[in-house]
Amino acid sequence: MLALPDYREQTPEVAARFAKIKERPVVLTVRNLEKAFGTNGSRHVVFDHVSLDIHRREFVTIIGPSGCGKSTFIRIAAGLEEATSGEMLLDGKPITGPSPDRGMVFQGYTLFPWRTVKENVMFGLEMRGNDTGTADAEARQWLDMVGLSRVENSYPHELSGGMKQRVAIARALANEPRILIMDEPFGALDALTRCKMQSYLLQIWKKVNVTILFITHDLDEAIYLSDRILVLGVNPGGVREIIENPVPRPRTPEQFLSPKFLAVKHRLDELIHGSAAEQEEEDKIPVIKLTEVGDEVE
Ligand SMILES: Nc1ncnc2c1ncn2[C@@H]1O[C@H](COP(=O)(O)OP(=O)(O)OP(=O)(O)O)[C@@H](O)[C@H]1O
Ligand SMILES: [Mg+2]
Repeated sequence: MLALPDYREQTPEVAARFAKIKERPVVLTVRNLEKAFGTNGSRHVVFDHVSLDIHRREFVTIIGPSGCGKSTFIRIAAGLEEATSGEMLLDGKPITGPSPDRGMVFQGYTLFPWRTVKENVMFGLEMRGNDTGTADAEARQWLDMVGLSRVENSYPHELSGGMKQRVAIARALANEPRILIMDEPFGALDALTRCKMQSYLLQIWKKVNVTILFITHDLDEAIYLSDRILVLGVNPGGVREIIENPVPRPRTPEQFLSPKFLAVKHRLDELIHGSAAEQEEEDKIPVIKLTEVGDEVE
């Protein structure tokens, strides 16, 4: 196998970037968080002992096998679900319910089909008490930011999947959230559109004062986008590792094959598929023979 560098080793530039990030105020504080479902008899601990401080304008990704609690974690951050114990604070204040200070983008398209693109972006602005003229002007600015001014009067069904997600990002950012929380936002897109959206998101993040908490299944996506990567596991659930991504910024698609990138990818693979292997026994598909002799596939 190709000899890979140590994934923890950082160049002085990368180390300096992390030092700067840590000097910034903490936006999201996670302290000893535990989430369990069910009662004593059949209690399922999804994760416990999760602690993490996310700093202003940091890009943090959560990755892990299906069922490790990625969505549960962000539902707690969104205020849609309560932790069993521990706490989550936004700017030092406990999260007690949903609020526009957390912008959400999900994999499923969540635009209002009866509203035009611009009216979708205006929605939160109007809810916050802006008059129609102000909401209109601000919505146009955000659509300009995501490069969709030309379709402002179209309806969601007239847009491609990638465009819909750009509108969803504009709509979330228009509320000027403290943190943008994205649960597999590009999961339903084809590979090429997905790559484009990743680059787009990095460009937007550069221009806007926002912290990002991103969920993905995709190793390349996690490494390409993030400062830090929180790896969750299953059986038992919880934090496997928090990786400070050593791949320098600005990120470019050429880096996907760089030794540093591959070293992080190898480590993520080890952490995630190690735990997937443990799961294998539970998830085994029953052997059912429905083939004719001589039809075997490899
Ligand atoms: N309301 C609920 N009641 C009981 N169990 C739940 C509930 N919500 C989630 N779970 C369980 O919690 C675990 C974590 O689910 P979650 O959806 O957070 O995983 P995930 O990491 O987002 O998975 P995926 O990658 O498939 O989206 C799963 O075992 C799931 O069955
Ligand atoms: Mg999920």
